[in-house]
Amino acid sequence: MIRLEPLAHQSADAIDGLLDAAFGTDRRGRTAYIIRLGMAWLTDLSFAALDADGAMVGLLQSWPVALHAPDGTQTALIMVGPVAVMPGVQNGGHGRALMDRLIETAAKVTDDPLMMIGDPGYYQRFWGFSADETDQWQAPGPFEAHRLLARQSHPDGAAIPCAGMLGPRQIAPATV
Ligand SMILES: CC(C)(COP(=O)(O)OP(=O)(O)OC[C@H]1O[C@@H](n2cnc3c(N)ncnc32)[C@H](O)[C@@H]1OP(=O)(O)O)[C@@H](O)C(=O)NCCC(=O)NCCS
Repeated sequence: MIRLEPLAHQSADAIDGLLDAAFGTDRRGRTAYIIRLGMAWLTDLSFAALDADGAMVGLLQSWPVALHAPDGTQTALIMVGPVAVMPGVQNGGHGRALMDRLIETAAKVTDDPLMMIGDPGYYQRFWGFSADETDQWQAPGPFEAHRLLARQSHPDGAAIPCAGMLGPRQIAPATV
């Protein structure tokens, strides 16, 4: 049985080590990293998968991002990923368990649409992410259009926005 727990229980070094093993050490130049530049990952939507000895063998992070329209308005989105599983245990159900937990939790805690850059053969097949509504989205780096995916967080959640540039979410300054 696959055990999941909040990713916040893991050290930054353990998280970096797993991401390096799954994606390579050059991963930080990827467009997904630029989209969420400067953001902190969302602790309530980020999870670790553990093996029988309690060692982390998979992880999923989520980030606050937005689609920025030309008129300066932004639509909040949750960027899902990276989803990473240790090479030695891939295809053992860890990725699916992590994504199932993300989808189940997001439906309870947010109305914001979910987005990701990922393989539709995996994320569309199991969780219904689709590139159908992202064809007018832009990103601050290269991406393959069929891998830019979105999904409502739940059936009554906010609609997927039509057009704009992906980037970090701008948080309004606090008023005193
Ligand atoms: C992609 C990843 C998260 C999947 O997690 P996992 O625990 O290995 O896979 P799961 O056990 O959850 O799912 C296995 C099923 O998904 C399929 N699958 C796995 N990765 C896939 C991919 N990138 N595209 C399409 N299908 C995929 C498998 O063929 C298998 O299908 P089956 O049940 O019909 O045999 C994991 O393999 C990983 O971290 N890979 C390295 C990073 C990477 O390549 N990411 C690319 C995806 S964005």
